Amino acid sequence: MNNYQAWEVDDSKFPTHGSVESRYAALLEYGILAPSTHNTQPWRFESDEKSLFLYPDRNYELSYGDSENRGLFISLGCCLINIMVAAEHFGMPLQATIRGSGNNIFLQLVQSKTKSENSSLRSLFPGIKSRTSNKLPYSPKVVAPNILKKLTLIPSIHLEINKRKIEEIANLHSQTAAEYAMNKAFARELSNWLRYNKTEQGDGMPGFVSGIKTGPSLVGRYVIRFVPKVLKVLAKKDKGLIMSSATVGIITSAKNNAEAWIDVGKKYQQFALQATLLGLSSTPLAAMIEKELAATRLARLFEVSADERPQMFFRLGYPTVDTKHTPRREIKIGKYNANTASSSKIT
Ligand SMILES: Cc1cc2nc3c(=O)[nH]c(=O)nc-3n(C[C@H](O)[C@H](O)[C@H](O)COP(=O)(O)O)c2cc1C
Repeated sequence: MNNYQAWEVDDSKFPTHGSVESRYAALLEYGILAPSTHNTQPWRFESDEKSLFLYPDRNYELSYGDSENRGLFISLGCCLINIMVAAEHFGMPLQATIRGSGNNIFLQLVQSKTKSENSSLRSLFPGIKSRTSNKLPYSPKVVAPNILKKLTLIPSIHLEINKRKIEEIANLHSQTAAEYAMNKAFARELSNWLRYNKTEQGDGMPGFVSGIKTGPSLVGRYVIRFVPKVLKVLAKKDKGLIMSSATVGIITSAKNNAEAWIDVGKKYQQFALQATLLGLSSTPLAAMIEKELAATRLARLFEVSADERPQMFFRLGYPTVDTKHTPRREIKIGKYNANTASSSKIT
């Protein structure tokens, strides 16, 4: 299997009449197309004849880029939504329950016995295979108010279209991202996830996603690893990218824990799929979220209430160029071990 094959998933091959486990396996083909921090794909799967289990995969923690594991759990929430959307599409609605506690939570999915409460997700299905995190400049075309309204139906999403405000936010991002240039460990970690454009690896970020040509993409990771100061240049470039966006947004939550982060991931992925279907592009930028002071300033700029913390920042706009997909690893599904489960609550 080549490392982009995952995007070619054939909807007509869904095993509608197959075993539950074969259907869970088929749903995961959509799950793994979700976005994730540095394209680490920090998820792990198990199943049995009743349930599908989604775990955060601790092998993919990012100690310096995602020190609290916020991005890891957000990515898991994004993956969950893709699975739920596909399940609705193929007529086997699922109910997700959070198991475990604290940072050791995971998700158990079972088939819904009652009428699905998530049927509205079905319409998002065509977005799964066409969504990308578009990291290139966006067109200056404004996003019409009726479209913005549609996108803010998802609770806790706050959008900003005021050019002056967007510039202030772009400055805050640029200053915060530039601080990472002092952090050699962060640069080393990031460089581990940067890939040559012709990579055959199933994860990480090929240079083309940021508009880097094949030749320079061969050395990009070494430049960042050995000259972390270039992150300052990239921070400046980000400022321009944010300012090219007609809209920027945040997703907030009152709680700041793993469960809240999964919920934020669910919201972002619904937003990103909906935006894709509306012909829009979006991409997250995590720097301001990671730093407490910047996150507080960001909340103030968005004028959200003091008990809400921004958990994700993203830009939104019409694309100027179509972007290519990032690679995916092959799916591995383990056999569930019943001794590990303990119930908490339904999401
Ligand atoms: C929680 C989260 C944080 C992210 N943070 C950033 C970021 O700071 N900068 C960036 O360029 N992309 C960021 N991304 C986008 C990922 O790089 C992207 O999802 C990944 O490379 C996979 O590509 P795809 O989304 O096009 O499938 C983030 C994605 C997630 C889910």
